[in-house]
Amino acid sequence: ISSGTSPGELLAIAVRVAREAAATARRMRDEAIGDVQTKSTDTDVVTAADKAVERQVVEALRAGRPGDGVLGEEYGDAGTTEPGAVRWILDPIDGTVNYLYGLPQYAVSLAAEVDGEVLAGVVVNAATGDEWTATRGGGAWRAGRRLACSTETVLGQALIGTGFGYDPRRRAHQGRVFAELITRVRDVRRFGAASLDLCLAAEGKLDAFFEKGLNPWDHAAGGLIAAEAGMVVAGLNGAPAGSEMVLLAPPALFPVLHDLLVELDAAGGA
Ligand code: IPD
Ligand code: CA
Ligand code: CA
Ligand code: CA
Repeated sequence: ISSGTSPGELLAIAVRVAREAAATARRMRDEAIGDVQTKSTDTDVVTAADKAVERQVVEALRAGRPGDGVLGEEYGDAGTTEPGAVRWILDPIDGTVNYLYGLPQYAVSLAAEVDGEVLAGVVVNAATGDEWTATRGGGAWRAGRRLACSTETVLGQALIGTGFGYDPRRRAHQGRVFAELITRVRDVRRFGAASLDLCLAAEGKLDAFFEKGLNPWDHAAGGLIAAEAGMVVAGLNGAPAGSEMVLLAPPALFPVLHDLLVELDAAGGA
């Protein structure tokens, strides 16, 4: 593992480590996913595989790059946050519920951030081996092809991806927003792995995506990939993409979907 911090070097490391992690997730799915436990709520599951994959990635990064920090879903934040230092942002298995049920839509998501800016990211669908990558300013790529997002401009003709969090109160709110949204768009998809949703949007297989309540590990890599494919990636009312909202859409569609979500978010209650 090199010690460089250029986007290209960081991406090369991310791809190598994420591929190995995806292989572990896949193997454990075939052999034994181990213990299944719940975290914040009864719907929030975590398997022994989520933890094993995270440990493997943290060990690989630590061994090769002891000066870097790592933020992972299962074990939290570790290491430096010094100015100019690299922080890796990891979702060891995004789509754990799909993983549990054997649905082929779960992924390893790994991004490299410096001073709050994501410079490189990779998402590997561990079930299929499909890989999406991006570096800041260097475009988004899959299987050697540069990606471009949808050019849809009409909300009524847009296919929108979304997701639901694990907190029942938030879900109830999301359900109210959803009930109204489906009357205004072509259709809605909920595939169950946010990082992969963002990659699908990057290649035009979803016209737009939004979700409230995501964590950095869900959208750090996929957000860069979608942005590098031409999407506007942001929150509501000028905020950056974050736990309040991750919204992405092609430039012409963004304001229309944004304003609708602001309206529905307010009408949907707490
Ligand atoms: C979840 C998935 C899901 C999204 C949830 C996430 P996890 O991540 O990305 O699609 O709707 O908000 O928490 O728990 O499977 O890594
Ligand atoms: Ca989880
Ligand atoms: Ca996740
Ligand atoms: Ca996860």
